[in-house]
Amino acid sequence: MAVTILAIESSCDDTSAAVIRDGYVLSNLIAGQEVHRSFGGVVPELASRAHQANIVPVIDQAITRAGIKKEEISAVAFTRGPGLLGSLLVGTSFAKGFALSLDIPLIEVNHLQAHVLSHFILTPGKESRIPSFPFLCLLVSGGHTRIILLKTHLEMDVLGNTIDDAAGEAFDKCGKLMGFTYPAGPAIDEFAATGNRKAYHFPKPSVRGLDFSFSGLKTSFLYFLRDMIKEDGDFIEKNKADLCASLQYTIVNILTSKLIKASVDTGIKQIGIAGGVSANSGLRNAVEAEAVKRNWELFIPDIAYTTDNAAMIGITGYYKYLKGEFSGQDTAPLARM
Ligand code: KG4
Ligand code: ZN
Repeated sequence: MAVTILAIESSCDDTSAAVIRDGYVLSNLIAGQEVHRSFGGVVPELASRAHQANIVPVIDQAITRAGIKKEEISAVAFTRGPGLLGSLLVGTSFAKGFALSLDIPLIEVNHLQAHVLSHFILTPGKESRIPSFPFLCLLVSGGHTRIILLKTHLEMDVLGNTIDDAAGEAFDKCGKLMGFTYPAGPAIDEFAATGNRKAYHFPKPSVRGLDFSFSGLKTSFLYFLRDMIKEDGDFIEKNKADLCASLQYTIVNILTSKLIKASVDTGIKQIGIAGGVSANSGLRNAVEAEAVKRNWELFIPDIAYTTDNAAMIGITGYYKYLKGEFSGQDTAPLARM
């Protein structure tokens, strides 16, 4: 019998629902939240309220678009954490009620694990390439920057982690200094396309092993802008493309050099990138170039599966379902996991 998972993701500012059948995505809907744009970041209370408004229509649409009946759903998978507690609570509560009403199992999913497993989502009618194990994945999202070694679908080791800010935060915080709205990553990516990446030089951190640090870059970017603005009040406006290109080049360099080190250290050549920042064209180009040079078998997710989405929660739920890893009705969301 087919295994059909209804998946719910509500860890931050996107309400998303998906239906996954036997590893194939039948639907994947995302309702974003415009309400945070003018605040320069996600406002937790507003996010939670928007999830409450969005969750029923989004799930309803996901089921309709998948062309299935509620009764065909085998289990409900939901993001337990990490994320904003108020946001997680909405998805968790809905998942529990839904599972209870249909008398089907509940499956909790770790959001970070799901980003990595997005590489295993299959698309109907399309030949999909999926990684084999061991698989090395650079996970770069708004809140996390990690190098993860995946031993099986559900067994992973964290080889490297950020000691302060995440790469996504570096994009967002530096973007804010240049006047971009949140999230700034996509805009920086766009401006960088026409800029000179060697126009300005920003220092790279020296962090041992496979760990990362991005707070120093943010500070030096801030001081650099402050000094330049003293000389010319329009400095940012006049040089936006070059600033974006140089900043992006530095961030991408920090990320790829650690990914290369991880591959050399472990001897693993099955390599992937995941998370919101993996949508960045500079990063995608850089790892593609390295893959050719180093004979990597590279996995770059479809853009739809880079930022937060429920399809990745569904694929993780599917593998947990196969292993019989279910959760009780007493499961509470976790801001940190
Ligand atoms: O994975 P994600 O959607 O949410 C978290 O789990 O945190 O990642 C969001 C992050 C934001 O920091 C956003 O600026 C960044 O991903 N991002 C990008 C791009 N698209 C999204 N950063 C750089 N270039 C992009 N094209
Ligand atoms: Zn995420």
